[in-house]
Amino acid sequence: MKHLGWTLCLTACLPWQALAWNHVNGTKLQGALDSSGYTLIAFVMPSQDTSKSLEAEWVSMQEREKDDNIVSFDCETHPKMCNDLDVSSFPAIRVYHRDGRMDRYRGERKGREISLFLRRTFRPAVFEADEQMAEQLTLLDDVVIMGHIHPDDWNLYDRFYDFAKKHKDDYSFVVTPPGYGATRSRLTCVNNLDDVKHETYETAAVEALEKFTKLCSELLIPELTRRNRKEYLRTSKNVLNFFATTNAEKEAYREDMRPLAKKHADLVQFAIVDATEYPDMVPATGEAETKIGLALIKSMTGVIVPYQVQDGEKLTAKIVGKFLSDAFGIPGQEKSNDAQVPKRGHEQERTHEEL
Ligand SMILES: *[C@@H]1O[C@H](CO)[C@@H](O)[C@H](O)[C@H]1NC(C)=O
Repeated sequence: MKHLGWTLCLTACLPWQALAWNHVNGTKLQGALDSSGYTLIAFVMPSQDTSKSLEAEWVSMQEREKDDNIVSFDCETHPKMCNDLDVSSFPAIRVYHRDGRMDRYRGERKGREISLFLRRTFRPAVFEADEQMAEQLTLLDDVVIMGHIHPDDWNLYDRFYDFAKKHKDDYSFVVTPPGYGATRSRLTCVNNLDDVKHETYETAAVEALEKFTKLCSELLIPELTRRNRKEYLRTSKNVLNFFATTNAEKEAYREDMRPLAKKHADLVQFAIVDATEYPDMVPATGEAETKIGLALIKSMTGVIVPYQVQDGEKLTAKIVGKFLSDAFGIPGQEKSNDAQVPKRGHEQERTHEEL
């Protein structure tokens, strides 16, 4: 009986059970596609790992959004219907609109990102707004790119629209007048994830929009990836690497260090390195037991200053702040203010491939 009790509990008592797929059937899906509304669908193969890893994210998004137009569909049970809709890789996430338009989601399979994507698909690629309205639109999305475009600047206007159409699934775009008396166009942007703003008057180059958008969408504390690796290794800044192995660790660090990273942005670039993926970036300690949590790479000298994490110690902003103060010989965090942060001289472009 004890055993049976457990079996029952396994199917009904564990919290994840509340977050199980609730697929619509074929009739329901066809009805949704024929209806006058939109439908956001996850086409899944429940037995495949890639579909399984979407399950909790999708179901909790459905609960959060309370939107009956967000559904999932089991393509193992209904292969013909999926085939008819040309779904061939899984999970496939699509929005079908009432006008017959369909948008495919290609981003990270996280509930928050998928919700933002859904909202973007209803919007025009570019909002045209007066200056007052534009100010309110800065909260529209994680990253909002604004063209403050002079009425004579047709070239930038056209390029801005083309660029926005290409990237409308990832960011939001606004066009607004350049302001009273302004003689030139400019670009501004807001990154609401890090609460950072940028501005530039350099709009003439062909790649200006691309470059500016990249700058705006970069995280304050980025993670080293195959894609940004080269650029990262060639930076002329001091770099503070945090070594982590799980996403939870990385997110917690980002959250805790954001104010500190912003405060010292001129002095040091904070970054995250996956210790499993890049084990050779972790400085050797010589002792198997100790764990390196941080490593500061000084740009002038290439000297690497490691920080060993004690057993059970959690890296707080206070600890990291003190570590930086000590490493750069600046007064303690409580007393220091921005004026005391030493200005760096003209540094050479250098590489630290020796890592
Ligand atoms: C499909 O699901 C709906 C409810 O979502 C139900 O009313 C209907 O009977 C189901 N159809 C079939 C064929 O199972």
